[in-house]
Amino acid sequence: MMSSAYWNEIMERLDEKVTRTISQMGDKCPHFAGEDGKFDDIGSDWWTTGFWPGMLWIMHDMTGKEHYKNAAWRWDEELEQWFIKPTEEMHHDVGFQFLSTAVIKHMITGDKDAFRRGIEAANFLAARYNPAGRFIRAWNGERYGWAIIDCMLNISLLFWASKATGDPRYKHIAIAHAETTMEHGIREDGSTKHILSFDAETGTYIENFGGQGLSAESSWSRGTAWGLYGFINAYRNTGDARFLNTAKRIAHYFIAASPEDYVPYSDFRFESLEGRYRDSSAAAIAASGLLEIAEVVPAGEKGLYAGAAERILRSLTENYATWDYPDHEALLLHGSSSVSAEAEGSLIYGDYYYIEAIAKLNGWKHRIY
Ligand code: GLY
Repeated sequence: MMSSAYWNEIMERLDEKVTRTISQMGDKCPHFAGEDGKFDDIGSDWWTTGFWPGMLWIMHDMTGKEHYKNAAWRWDEELEQWFIKPTEEMHHDVGFQFLSTAVIKHMITGDKDAFRRGIEAANFLAARYNPAGRFIRAWNGERYGWAIIDCMLNISLLFWASKATGDPRYKHIAIAHAETTMEHGIREDGSTKHILSFDAETGTYIENFGGQGLSAESSWSRGTAWGLYGFINAYRNTGDARFLNTAKRIAHYFIAASPEDYVPYSDFRFESLEGRYRDSSAAAIAASGLLEIAEVVPAGEKGLYAGAAERILRSLTENYATWDYPDHEALLLHGSSSVSAEAEGSLIYGDYYYIEAIAKLNGWKHRIY
Protein backbone atom coordinates (compact mmCIF):
# COMPACT_ATOMS: atom_id res chain seq x y z
CA MET A 1 0.00 0.00 0.00
CA MET A 2 1.15 3.55 -0.68
CA SER A 3 1.96 5.94 2.18
CA SER A 4 -0.48 8.65 3.15
CA ALA A 5 2.15 11.19 2.03
CA TYR A 6 1.83 9.82 -1.52
CA TRP A 7 -1.96 10.35 -1.60
CA ASN A 8 -1.57 13.71 0.09
CA GLU A 9 0.74 14.84 -2.67
CA ILE A 10 -1.80 13.72 -5.29
CA MET A 11 -4.44 15.83 -3.54
CA GLU A 12 -2.13 18.84 -3.80
CA ARG A 13 -1.59 18.18 -7.49
CA LEU A 14 -5.36 17.92 -7.94
CA ASP A 15 -5.79 21.28 -6.21
CA GLU A 16 -3.46 22.87 -8.75
CA LYS A 17 -4.99 21.04 -11.73
CA VAL A 18 -8.69 21.57 -10.89
CA THR A 19 -8.12 25.23 -10.03
CA ARG A 20 -6.62 25.74 -13.50
CA THR A 21 -9.47 23.78 -15.08
CA ILE A 22 -12.10 26.17 -13.69
CA SER A 23 -11.06 28.95 -16.06
CA GLN A 24 -10.46 26.53 -18.95
CA MET A 25 -13.93 25.04 -18.51
CA GLY A 26 -15.86 28.35 -18.36
CA ASP A 27 -19.60 27.68 -18.45
CA LYS A 28 -19.34 24.37 -20.24
CA CYS A 29 -21.32 21.32 -19.20
CA PRO A 30 -18.66 18.71 -19.97
CA HIS A 31 -18.90 15.07 -20.92
CA PHE A 32 -16.17 13.93 -23.34
CA ALA A 33 -12.76 15.27 -24.35
CA GLY A 34 -10.84 13.88 -27.31
CA GLU A 35 -7.13 14.01 -28.08
CA ASP A 36 -6.86 17.80 -27.71
CA GLY A 37 -8.05 17.52 -24.10
CA LYS A 38 -10.87 20.06 -24.60
CA PHE A 39 -14.21 19.03 -23.18
CA ASP A 40 -17.39 19.28 -25.23
CA ASP A 41 -20.41 21.26 -23.94
CA ILE A 42 -23.17 18.73 -23.93
CA GLY A 43 -26.05 20.57 -22.25
CA SER A 44 -27.23 20.29 -18.67
CA ASP A 45 -30.03 17.81 -19.41
CA TRP A 46 -27.45 15.12 -20.23
CA TRP A 47 -26.92 12.51 -17.49
CA THR A 48 -23.39 13.70 -16.73
CA THR A 49 -24.27 17.24 -15.56
CA GLY A 50 -23.41 16.59 -11.94
CA PHE A 51 -19.86 15.34 -12.23
CA TRP A 52 -17.99 18.59 -12.85
CA PRO A 53 -19.80 20.44 -10.02
CA GLY A 54 -19.34 17.32 -7.87
CA MET A 55 -15.56 17.55 -8.38
CA LEU A 56 -15.70 21.20 -7.37
CA TRP A 57 -17.71 20.48 -4.21
CA ILE A 58 -15.29 17.76 -3.12
CA MET A 59 -12.32 20.05 -3.75
CA HIS A 60 -14.04 22.77 -1.72
CA ASP A 61 -14.74 20.31 1.09
CA MET A 62 -11.12 19.10 1.10
CA THR A 63 -9.41 22.49 0.85
CA GLY A 64 -11.93 25.02 2.20
CA LYS A 65 -11.16 27.20 -0.85
CA GLU A 66 -13.98 29.51 -1.90
CA HIS A 67 -13.27 29.51 -5.65
CA TYR A 68 -14.44 25.89 -5.87
CA LYS A 69 -17.70 26.68 -4.06
CA ASN A 70 -18.33 29.74 -6.23
CA ALA A 71 -17.90 27.71 -9.43
CA ALA A 72 -20.11 24.86 -8.15
CA TRP A 73 -22.94 26.92 -6.67
CA ARG A 74 -25.24 27.48 -9.67
CA TRP A 75 -25.59 23.97 -11.03
CA ASP A 76 -28.51 22.59 -9.00
CA GLU A 77 -30.60 25.63 -9.91
CA GLU A 78 -29.79 25.17 -13.59
CA LEU A 79 -30.70 21.48 -13.38
CA GLU A 80 -34.01 22.13 -11.68
CA GLN A 81 -35.20 24.07 -14.75
CA TRP A 82 -35.41 20.79 -16.66
CA PHE A 83 -38.38 19.73 -14.55
CA ILE A 84 -40.49 22.51 -16.06
CA LYS A 85 -39.18 22.51 -19.62
CA PRO A 86 -41.30 20.81 -22.28
CA THR A 87 -38.93 17.89 -22.69
CA GLU A 88 -38.69 14.26 -21.77
CA GLU A 89 -34.99 14.43 -21.10
CA MET A 90 -34.97 13.77 -17.37
CA HIS A 91 -34.95 10.10 -16.45
CA HIS A 92 -33.51 7.83 -13.75
CA ASP A 93 -30.14 9.57 -13.95
CA VAL A 94 -31.54 12.43 -11.85
CA GLY A 95 -29.67 10.43 -9.19
CA PHE A 96 -26.26 11.10 -10.75
CA GLN A 97 -27.32 14.65 -11.62
CA PHE A 98 -28.68 15.84 -8.27
CA LEU A 99 -26.50 13.89 -5.82
CA SER A 100 -23.35 15.70 -6.87
CA THR A 101 -25.06 19.09 -7.16
CA ALA A 102 -28.06 19.66 -4.86
CA VAL A 103 -27.43 16.93 -2.28
CA ILE A 104 -23.73 17.56 -1.76
CA LYS A 105 -24.35 21.33 -1.74
CA HIS A 106 -26.92 20.90 1.02
CA MET A 107 -24.59 18.57 2.98
CA ILE A 108 -21.73 21.05 2.85
CA THR A 109 -23.53 24.40 3.08
CA GLY A 110 -26.98 23.60 4.53
CA ASP A 111 -28.59 25.54 1.64
CA LYS A 112 -32.36 25.07 1.84
CA ASP A 113 -33.06 25.48 -1.89
CA ALA A 114 -30.54 22.74 -2.60
CA PHE A 115 -32.37 20.49 -0.12
CA ARG A 116 -35.71 21.17 -1.82
CA ARG A 117 -34.21 20.37 -5.23
CA GLY A 118 -32.74 17.12 -3.94
CA ILE A 119 -36.14 16.02 -2.62
CA GLU A 120 -37.84 17.14 -5.86
CA ALA A 121 -35.44 14.86 -7.78
CA ALA A 122 -36.00 11.98 -5.34
CA ASN A 123 -39.77 12.31 -5.85
CA PHE A 124 -39.23 12.18 -9.61
CA LEU A 125 -37.04 9.07 -9.30
CA ALA A 126 -39.45 7.34 -6.90
CA ALA A 127 -42.29 7.96 -9.37
CA ARG A 128 -40.46 5.84 -11.96
CA TYR A 129 -40.86 2.75 -9.78
CA ASN A 130 -42.93 -0.11 -11.20
CA PRO A 131 -44.42 -2.17 -8.32
CA ALA A 132 -45.27 -5.05 -10.70
CA GLY A 133 -41.63 -5.90 -11.44
CA ARG A 134 -40.15 -4.07 -8.40
CA PHE A 135 -37.77 -2.01 -10.57
CA ILE A 136 -37.11 1.63 -11.40
CA ARG A 137 -37.69 2.41 -15.03
CA ALA A 138 -34.47 3.64 -16.64
CA TRP A 139 -35.21 5.68 -19.74
CA ASN A 140 -38.19 7.30 -21.49
CA GLY A 141 -40.04 6.59 -24.71
CA GLU A 142 -41.73 3.22 -24.90
CA ARG A 143 -39.09 1.30 -22.97
CA TYR A 144 -41.41 0.98 -19.99
CA GLY A 145 -39.93 -2.32 -18.83
CA TRP A 146 -36.21 -1.51 -18.92
CA ALA A 147 -34.01 -1.28 -15.86
CA ILE A 148 -30.22 -0.90 -16.01
CA ILE A 149 -27.26 -1.65 -13.75
CA ASP A 150 -26.23 2.05 -13.60
CA CYS A 151 -29.37 2.75 -11.55
CA MET A 152 -27.70 1.09 -8.56
CA LEU A 153 -25.92 4.43 -8.07
CA ASN A 154 -29.04 6.52 -8.72
CA ILE A 155 -30.87 4.85 -5.83
CA SER A 156 -28.45 6.56 -3.43
CA LEU A 157 -30.69 9.59 -3.93
CA LEU A 158 -33.59 7.61 -2.45
CA PHE A 159 -31.55 6.40 0.54
CA TRP A 160 -30.54 10.02 1.14
CA ALA A 161 -34.15 11.27 0.85
CA SER A 162 -35.35 8.79 3.49
CA LYS A 163 -32.61 9.84 5.88
CA ALA A 164 -33.16 13.53 5.16
CA THR A 165 -36.95 13.48 5.61
CA GLY A 166 -37.57 10.50 7.92
CA ASP A 167 -39.98 9.08 5.31
CA PRO A 168 -39.10 5.40 4.68
CA ARG A 169 -40.94 5.12 1.35
CA TYR A 170 -37.93 6.24 -0.69
CA LYS A 171 -35.70 3.64 0.96
CA HIS A 172 -38.24 0.86 0.39
CA ILE A 173 -38.22 1.60 -3.34
CA ALA A 174 -34.40 1.62 -3.39
CA ILE A 175 -34.27 -1.75 -1.59
CA ALA A 176 -36.86 -3.34 -3.88
CA HIS A 177 -34.94 -2.15 -6.96
CA ALA A 178 -31.64 -3.46 -5.53
CA GLU A 179 -33.21 -6.86 -4.80
CA THR A 180 -34.54 -7.10 -8.35
CA THR A 181 -31.15 -6.13 -9.81
CA MET A 182 -29.45 -8.67 -7.54
CA GLU A 183 -31.82 -11.41 -8.71
CA HIS A 184 -31.70 -10.78 -12.46
CA GLY A 185 -28.69 -8.56 -13.15
CA ILE A 186 -25.78 -10.24 -11.36
CA ARG A 187 -24.50 -13.63 -12.46
CA GLU A 188 -23.17 -16.33 -10.10
CA ASP A 189 -19.56 -15.49 -11.02
CA GLY A 190 -19.98 -11.79 -10.15
CA SER A 191 -20.17 -10.54 -13.74
CA THR A 192 -23.03 -8.16 -14.52
CA LYS A 193 -25.65 -7.52 -17.20
CA HIS A 194 -26.38 -4.01 -18.46
CA ILE A 195 -30.05 -3.80 -19.53
CA LEU A 196 -32.78 -5.92 -17.93
CA SER A 197 -36.12 -6.14 -19.72
CA PHE A 198 -39.40 -6.85 -17.90
CA ASP A 199 -43.02 -7.01 -18.96
CA ALA A 200 -44.10 -3.68 -17.51
CA GLU A 201 -47.70 -4.90 -17.13
CA THR A 202 -47.07 -8.16 -15.26
CA GLY A 203 -43.56 -7.53 -13.94
CA THR A 204 -42.24 -10.79 -15.42
CA TYR A 205 -38.51 -10.75 -16.22
CA ILE A 206 -37.99 -11.39 -19.94
CA GLU A 207 -34.34 -11.07 -20.99
CA ASN A 208 -31.22 -8.92 -20.89
CA PHE A 209 -29.44 -6.87 -23.54
CA GLY A 210 -25.76 -6.02 -23.95
CA GLY A 211 -26.41 -2.26 -24.00
CA GLN A 212 -23.11 -0.39 -23.77
CA GLY A 213 -21.26 -3.69 -23.36
CA LEU A 214 -20.30 -6.28 -25.97
CA SER A 215 -23.31 -8.59 -25.79
CA ALA A 216 -26.00 -10.03 -23.55
CA GLU A 217 -23.48 -12.64 -22.34
CA SER A 218 -20.65 -10.19 -21.64
CA SER A 219 -19.75 -7.95 -18.70
CA TRP A 220 -19.44 -4.26 -19.61
CA SER A 221 -16.64 -3.05 -17.35
CA ARG A 222 -18.23 0.25 -16.31
CA GLY A 223 -21.51 -1.55 -15.64
CA THR A 224 -19.57 -4.00 -13.47
CA ALA A 225 -18.12 -1.04 -11.57
CA TRP A 226 -21.60 0.50 -11.16
CA GLY A 227 -22.78 -2.81 -9.71
CA LEU A 228 -19.83 -3.08 -7.31
CA TYR A 229 -20.26 0.47 -6.01
CA GLY A 230 -24.08 0.36 -6.01
CA PHE A 231 -24.32 -2.80 -3.92
CA ILE A 232 -21.83 -1.65 -1.31
CA ASN A 233 -23.92 1.53 -0.99
CA ALA A 234 -27.07 -0.53 -0.63
CA TYR A 235 -25.29 -2.40 2.19
CA ARG A 236 -24.10 0.81 3.86
CA ASN A 237 -27.65 2.12 3.85
CA THR A 238 -29.40 -1.06 5.01
CA GLY A 239 -26.91 -3.35 6.79
CA ASP A 240 -28.32 -6.20 4.67
CA ALA A 241 -25.53 -8.79 4.28
CA ARG A 242 -26.92 -9.99 0.93
CA PHE A 243 -25.94 -6.63 -0.58
CA LEU A 244 -22.44 -6.78 0.95
CA ASN A 245 -21.89 -10.29 -0.41
CA THR A 246 -23.09 -9.21 -3.85
CA ALA A 247 -20.72 -6.22 -3.83
CA LYS A 248 -17.86 -8.54 -2.83
CA ARG A 249 -18.72 -11.07 -5.53
CA ILE A 250 -18.71 -8.34 -8.20
CA ALA A 251 -15.46 -6.93 -6.77
CA HIS A 252 -13.77 -10.34 -6.97
CA TYR A 253 -14.81 -10.68 -10.61
CA PHE A 254 -13.67 -7.12 -11.41
CA ILE A 255 -10.25 -7.65 -9.79
CA ALA A 256 -9.70 -11.10 -11.32
CA ALA A 257 -10.77 -10.05 -14.83
CA SER A 258 -8.73 -6.81 -14.99
CA PRO A 259 -5.49 -6.64 -16.99
CA GLU A 260 -1.99 -6.29 -15.57
CA ASP A 261 -2.16 -2.54 -15.07
CA TYR A 262 -5.55 -2.87 -13.25
CA VAL A 263 -7.40 -0.65 -15.74
CA PRO A 264 -9.97 -2.70 -17.67
CA TYR A 265 -10.91 -2.65 -21.30
CA SER A 266 -14.48 -1.52 -21.93
CA ASP A 267 -15.75 -5.09 -21.59
CA PHE A 268 -14.36 -8.05 -19.68
CA ARG A 269 -15.26 -10.61 -22.33
CA PHE A 270 -13.56 -9.62 -25.58
CA GLU A 271 -12.20 -12.61 -27.49
CA SER A 272 -9.37 -10.42 -28.77
CA LEU A 273 -8.15 -7.09 -27.42
CA GLU A 274 -6.99 -5.95 -30.86
CA GLY A 275 -8.45 -2.48 -31.54
CA ARG A 276 -10.33 -2.39 -28.24
CA TYR A 277 -10.28 0.60 -25.89
CA ARG A 278 -9.62 0.78 -22.18
CA ASP A 279 -12.12 2.45 -19.91
CA SER A 280 -10.29 4.39 -17.20
CA SER A 281 -13.67 5.54 -15.83
CA ALA A 282 -14.58 1.94 -14.93
CA ALA A 283 -11.33 1.69 -12.97
CA ALA A 284 -11.96 4.95 -11.09
CA ILE A 285 -15.55 4.00 -10.17
CA ALA A 286 -14.48 0.54 -9.01
CA ALA A 287 -11.63 1.99 -6.91
CA SER A 288 -14.00 4.32 -5.08
CA GLY A 289 -16.41 1.43 -4.44
CA LEU A 290 -13.60 -0.90 -3.30
CA LEU A 291 -12.60 1.67 -0.67
CA GLU A 292 -16.16 1.46 0.70
CA ILE A 293 -15.99 -2.34 0.89
CA ALA A 294 -12.65 -2.02 2.73
CA GLU A 295 -14.35 0.25 5.29
CA VAL A 296 -16.95 -2.29 6.36
CA VAL A 297 -15.25 -5.70 6.22
CA PRO A 298 -13.32 -7.23 9.17
CA ALA A 299 -9.65 -6.23 9.58
CA GLY A 300 -8.35 -9.42 7.98
CA GLU A 301 -10.24 -8.73 4.75
CA LYS A 302 -9.51 -5.01 4.40
CA GLY A 303 -6.21 -5.45 2.58
CA LEU A 304 -7.84 -7.30 -0.30
CA TYR A 305 -10.19 -4.42 -1.16
CA ALA A 306 -8.09 -1.42 -0.08
CA GLY A 307 -5.02 -2.92 -1.80
CA ALA A 308 -6.95 -3.42 -5.06
CA ALA A 309 -8.29 0.15 -4.88
CA GLU A 310 -4.84 1.61 -4.29
CA ARG A 311 -3.28 -0.40 -7.11
CA ILE A 312 -5.93 0.90 -9.52
CA LEU A 313 -5.52 4.49 -8.34
CA ARG A 314 -1.75 4.34 -8.53
CA SER A 315 -1.95 3.02 -12.07
CA LEU A 316 -4.40 5.77 -13.06
CA THR A 317 -2.17 8.37 -11.38
CA GLU A 318 1.04 7.22 -13.00
CA ASN A 319 -0.09 5.92 -16.41
CA TYR A 320 -3.39 7.62 -17.30
CA ALA A 321 -3.40 11.12 -15.76
CA THR A 322 -2.71 14.37 -17.61
CA TRP A 323 -0.31 15.97 -15.09
CA ASP A 324 2.15 16.69 -17.88
CA TYR A 325 -0.46 18.34 -20.12
CA PRO A 326 -1.51 21.65 -18.52
CA ASP A 327 -3.76 22.44 -21.51
CA HIS A 328 -5.84 19.33 -20.95
CA GLU A 329 -9.09 20.10 -19.17
CA ALA A 330 -9.52 16.43 -18.26
CA LEU A 331 -7.69 14.44 -15.62
CA LEU A 332 -7.76 10.90 -17.00
CA LEU A 333 -7.03 9.66 -20.51
CA HIS A 334 -8.26 6.45 -22.15
CA GLY A 335 -11.93 6.27 -21.26
CA SER A 336 -14.59 4.86 -23.53
CA SER A 337 -18.26 5.69 -23.24
CA SER A 338 -19.27 2.26 -24.53
CA VAL A 339 -17.87 -0.75 -26.37
CA SER A 340 -19.08 0.73 -29.66
CA ALA A 341 -17.57 4.20 -29.01
CA GLU A 342 -15.83 5.53 -32.10
CA ALA A 343 -12.97 7.02 -30.14
CA GLU A 344 -11.44 6.80 -26.72
CA GLY A 345 -10.82 9.92 -24.66
CA SER A 346 -11.54 11.53 -21.33
CA LEU A 347 -14.86 11.15 -19.56
CA ILE A 348 -15.98 13.59 -16.90
CA TYR A 349 -17.30 10.80 -14.67
CA GLY A 350 -13.89 9.09 -14.73
CA ASP A 351 -12.43 12.33 -13.40
CA TYR A 352 -15.16 12.66 -10.76
CA TYR A 353 -14.72 9.16 -9.29
CA TYR A 354 -10.93 9.49 -9.39
CA ILE A 355 -11.14 12.68 -7.31
CA GLU A 356 -13.72 11.10 -5.01
CA ALA A 357 -11.47 8.10 -4.35
CA ILE A 358 -8.35 10.23 -3.79
CA ALA A 359 -10.37 12.40 -1.39
CA LYS A 360 -11.42 9.27 0.54
CA LEU A 361 -7.77 8.25 0.86
CA ASN A 362 -7.15 11.71 2.31
CA GLY A 363 -9.89 11.42 4.94
CA TRP A 364 -12.95 12.83 3.10
CA LYS A 365 -15.97 12.00 5.23
CA HIS A 366 -19.04 13.26 3.35
CA ARG A 367 -20.72 10.61 1.22
CA ILE A 368 -23.29 11.13 -1.53
CA TYR A 369 -23.12 7.53 -2.74
N1 GLY B 1 -24.85 5.76 -17.05
C1 GLY B 1 -24.40 5.63 -18.39
C2 GLY B 1 -23.00 5.21 -18.54
O1 GLY B 1 -22.37 4.71 -17.64
O2 GLY B 1 -22.49 5.41 -19.61
